[in-house]
Amino acid sequence: MLTRIAATPDPTSAEIALAYHARTKHSLKRYAAGPETLDWDLQPNPFREFTGSARTSLPLTTDELSTSFAQVYGPTGVARPLTIASVAALLELSMGLSAWKELGPDRWALRCNPSSGNLHPTECYVLSASVPGLDDGLHHYVSRDHVLEQRCRRAGPSGASARLWIGFASIHWREAWKYGERAFRYCQLDIGHALGAVRYAAGALGWRARLVDDVANTALSAWMGLDRRADFAGTEFEDADLLIEIEPCAATAPARQERTPPSFDAAADHWTGRANRLDAHPLYRWPVIDEVSTATHGGATEAADVLSPHYPPLPEASAARAADVILGRRSAQRFDAKFTMSLDHFHRLLDCLLARPVAPWDVWTFAPRVHPVLFVHRVEGLAPGVYALPRHPEADKALRQALRPDFEWQKVESAPAHLPLFRLLAADCRAVAKTASCHQAIASDGCFSLSMLSEFEPIVGANAWRYRQLYWEAGLLGQVLYLEAEAAGLRGTGIGCYFDDDVHEMLGVGTTQFQALYHFTVGRPLTDDRITTLPAYPGRQRNERAGAAT
Ligand SMILES: Cc1cc2nc3c(=O)[nH]c(=O)nc-3n(C[C@H](O)[C@H](O)[C@H](O)COP(=O)(O)O)c2cc1C
Repeated sequence: MLTRIAATPDPTSAEIALAYHARTKHSLKRYAAGPETLDWDLQPNPFREFTGSARTSLPLTTDELSTSFAQVYGPTGVARPLTIASVAALLELSMGLSAWKELGPDRWALRCNPSSGNLHPTECYVLSASVPGLDDGLHHYVSRDHVLEQRCRRAGPSGASARLWIGFASIHWREAWKYGERAFRYCQLDIGHALGAVRYAAGALGWRARLVDDVANTALSAWMGLDRRADFAGTEFEDADLLIEIEPCAATAPARQERTPPSFDAAADHWTGRANRLDAHPLYRWPVIDEVSTATHGGATEAADVLSPHYPPLPEASAARAADVILGRRSAQRFDAKFTMSLDHFHRLLDCLLARPVAPWDVWTFAPRVHPVLFVHRVEGLAPGVYALPRHPEADKALRQALRPDFEWQKVESAPAHLPLFRLLAADCRAVAKTASCHQAIASDGCFSLSMLSEFEPIVGANAWRYRQLYWEAGLLGQVLYLEAEAAGLRGTGIGCYFDDDVHEMLGVGTTQFQALYHFTVGRPLTDDRITTLPAYPGRQRNERAGAAT
């Protein structure tokens, strides 16, 4: 007689996401699985291109933008009309190059959006309708050349008012090449940074931007032409991440319309281009990345999250030009370990992390779920120690229960009354901060570093897509810190390498209700004089007109 074997049910999407998270933790005892050797000469090409696509050279127009950094946070900037020249500025200030660097025989590009390991897995697409100077349809942005490659030209009419969307997709292999299984996390953090970069760039043009959060991955892929398998045959696949609706706040803005672009018409619309191959000889494969990627496709399934408390308006920000702050953003590689930052700058940096209905937090409708736990080393008038900034009153309660019972939870009286800053422990935590961030001195030499603790299992368990989205929130926090540090004459650095459960243990987090998703550090940078800085687009004139590129 045959015995019936009980079938093991397939894991749910949420189980796959949670299992991926668990297996890609670094710890003091072992790092997550990654390549054993790296040959830097074999690094995948950081620039995707589509051969056979018509290229439009974009003008360099950011010199014309007088918007101050302060105006990005308010409605006072002058809104630019939506034309190819302003689209060019939006792209330059978000995904464009900010400089080339040279050291001996090595030369590398830096971009306005940061990226773990400077590997840049994020690809950027533009969907345009009735934008003067730009054909209606889909374009791919090549940051190296500041050009748009035309992927699809729409045949039908696109309506009277100009509309614009930015789409992001990730080439996971670019990141996995160096970081192995943990790379999917970094790709999502990079997406959060890029989302923030677009929102700040839109602000420099007097515009707003909003994440379109409720569309299926199949629709995202179709809008970005990623479902056209033949165009990617034999090359690295791109995974569609998100779509951003650009809202030019011009006085003539049309009444609310569909938030998404129209679908393409396979029979009538005209597609061109084939993707280039980025790595001819990949040495490793990390199938777990494909699994978690598929499991976390989707979008928001729930209605808009709980709203944030009402905070007073942000204090006056830097009067510097927004474009200068954005183009000047860099990661510090070393910090002045003696420098003490001012309390005002510290408070402002934290204040900007609270979710107000201004840039960049108006980019989405989700309640804040990621809460910084700070390791304060040198801030004027503040005792060194561990501090918490619950970005939501409910999180305050939950964190008090989840973290070590002996933490003080002493409200910092010197902070602005609305700033939910609590001292948990007065201590010199430089050594601990350094160890927790994979022994990196940037975490102890900065004025402060932090761990972003996210509300986790209940949220991911309810909708696996939120695994990506929580990382985007952490990346957004990082982008605010980068730009605010820059505006204050300081500098930040994202830290993707940290020992997950060792951090949890140190803070007393015993369950997966909260998990650390990202670390960050801020301080006064020490620059390496051996490195030469070269212009982002040598030989290109500023303010030249858009035109066909060779
Ligand atoms: C998600 C993320 C993780 C990062 N992790 C680290 C890190 O662990 N250590 C480090 O020194 N830099 C880290 N960085 C900084 C990158 O190396 C840096 O962004 C990249 O080299 C590009 O330089 P730029 O930021 O000056 O443009 C990280 C950046 C991001 C966005």
